[in-house]
Amino acid sequence: MNVLITGGAGYIGSHTCVELIRAGHSAIILDNFSSSKDSVPDQIARITGKHPIVVKGDVRDEVLILWALTSYRVEAVIHLAGLKSVPDSMLDPDSYKDINVGGSDALLRAMVTRQVYRLVYASSAAVYGPPLSLPIKEDHPLAPRNPYGQSKLSVERKLEELSGQGLFRIAILRFFNPVGAHQSGLIGDDPCGIPGNLMPQVSRVAIGHLPILQVFGNDYETLDGSAVRDYLHVMDLAIAQIQALDALDRQRWIRVNLGTGRGVSVLQLLRAFSEVSGKSIPYVFAPRRLGDTAQCYASAELALKDLQWRAERSLEEMCKDTWHWQCKTLNQYQDPGLPSKIPVLSSSTRMVEDQGSASKNPNERHGNGKKVP
Ligand SMILES: NC(=O)c1ccc[n+]([C@@H]2O[C@H](COP(=O)([O-])OP(=O)(O)OC[C@H]3O[C@@H](n4cnc5c(N)ncnc54)[C@H](O)[C@@H]3O)[C@@H](O)[C@H]2O)c1
Repeated sequence: MNVLITGGAGYIGSHTCVELIRAGHSAIILDNFSSSKDSVPDQIARITGKHPIVVKGDVRDEVLILWALTSYRVEAVIHLAGLKSVPDSMLDPDSYKDINVGGSDALLRAMVTRQVYRLVYASSAAVYGPPLSLPIKEDHPLAPRNPYGQSKLSVERKLEELSGQGLFRIAILRFFNPVGAHQSGLIGDDPCGIPGNLMPQVSRVAIGHLPILQVFGNDYETLDGSAVRDYLHVMDLAIAQIQALDALDRQRWIRVNLGTGRGVSVLQLLRAFSEVSGKSIPYVFAPRRLGDTAQCYASAELALKDLQWRAERSLEEMCKDTWHWQCKTLNQYQDPGLPSKIPVLSSSTRMVEDQGSASKNPNERHGNGKKVP
């Protein structure tokens, strides 16, 4: 199939391109490279032996999309382009509306005009808001608490409406916390500036490009007091998207979580990373962030049923592949002028350093309420 992949040069998009090509599809990337590097398509080619087609432009540019859909005889779209930072969305909600919602509108109008009716949409666990029950099932109430989550839900609602008209085949995939990198180390999570997500911060602290990690909250009702999330390997996520494309042969409407179904705490992730990399990771506890919840992890049952997909890769593989990628891209960050905006609160600084393996069942609270150091 000829597949247009918006945001295909980004973190998730680049790994998805690799899997698309590996599965025998043709990948046409539409990306404005606002948060990805021009070199990414070449790296995809190095991995797969096949260069994706690249259309450099904005997902809000309907004329460009119309042109791309026709020129490359596109049969399906994977829509990943957009902004993804929760804190940024609170500072600049208009951009999230404009790019995430406006971009999706332009894409959908162009798809209707060109009669391209197969779509996989990258949604997010952010549509749920604070969990009322765990694991989070797809019918959990939707209550996004920030403009990012609201932008994702707004697009979901439009897709539901479109689906009701009977022409489209749509898969909405609610991603939990993708981490890791392709095992080649040629592509990975490469945010511009100081990363907002935990894993890229951890790996940059481990390699010495950031001085210390801030762990937000040590008094949550979790096994060790730090927040628990559902981390999944980005290659598992890439495979899920290809399986969603295929599943649309059988089903017109799919809406599933993509997670492992298991929660991992920040401190467990730090320990796993430290063991894999052999590096000390200094960290400091900081107050909880506004809007953060203690635990958030997916029910993975519906994805298994609808996509015949489950996340296969372990936390160790997520850390190993991130570290491999980080070491390979070492030179990129050897800029002495790189600002370190993370304040050092020295009185409570700790190090995570090969402190024995974490609990096998991270969702279980320690009976005595003792903090794992
Ligand atoms: N990474 C996560 O933790 C996560 C979790 C849940 C959902 N998602 C969703 O998955 C998608 C991809 O996320 P990612 O982590 O790969 O992000 P990313 O920032 O690495 O990739 C997004 C890509 O979209 C491109 N882009 C941004 N604005 C654009 C525009 N106006 N026109 C064209 N291209 C544009 C960027 O250049 C980038 O290559 C996003 O929609 C995000 O909301 C991500």
